[in-house]
Amino acid sequence: MRKPIIIGNWKMNNTLSEAIDLVNGIKSFELDKNVEKVVCVPYIYAMEMKNILKDTDVKVGVQNVYFEEKGAYTGEVSSAMLNSIGAEYVIVGHSERRTIFGETDDIVNKKVISCLKNEIIPILCCGETLEERKSEKAKAVIENQIRLALKDISKDEVKNVIIAYEPIWAIGTGITASSKDAEEIISFIRTILNEMYAETSEIIRIQYGGSVKPENVKEIMAEKNIDGALVGGACLKAESYRDLVNFNL
Ligand code: PGA
Repeated sequence: MRKPIIIGNWKMNNTLSEAIDLVNGIKSFELDKNVEKVVCVPYIYAMEMKNILKDTDVKVGVQNVYFEEKGAYTGEVSSAMLNSIGAEYVIVGHSERRTIFGETDDIVNKKVISCLKNEIIPILCCGETLEERKSEKAKAVIENQIRLALKDISKDEVKNVIIAYEPIWAIGTGITASSKDAEEIISFIRTILNEMYAETSEIIRIQYGGSVKPENVKEIMAEKNIDGALVGGACLKAESYRDLVNFNL
């Protein structure tokens, strides 16, 4: 059984006092124990958020990492540094990083490797543009992203990877892929994982992301191969995060 996982991606939002209010709000609610819960916060708030959430089962992750171990990389943060502050998850290869910051598949692969080496769970994002979807290239694009991102990752290591399928045209646009469309691509991703890792593919969790909100989360989560949601906009309010996590209650 794959445990459902709801991850909030705060992106570049919230001042410190807003961030504190948000996690205190989340902390005040009864949240489904059968759902794994993560908030991916800006680096600078990670320790404070960890501290506030320490008596809860809500885990803290961040939104980026640099793949080198240490050294002269001004402004960067390594997986070892993240591990040392108790961050447990990192979003890797988000489409905003790929398009705005020029992150290539090779960089994404190096980041996944560095996370696994330092016991951080990478949330590996993939997804196609609208043009790619319209020209029926979505599956080819996603297969390529997955195979390159998981290059040199063993069967044992891949168990600790979470994959997030996020069609770029659905991110922040209010347009959600239909649950059937999302399921079609996500089951396709599982087929690729099966080719790469055989039966281990059955235990790898694959999320959907792109305009997920309390109103559509239940339908998305009802799909057989969809194990969770990576949520941007709708996770910035405590009540909305609660309703996403409690989709089953
Ligand atoms: P959204 O963002 O929920 O605001 O569409 C999702 C994401 O980019 O992870």
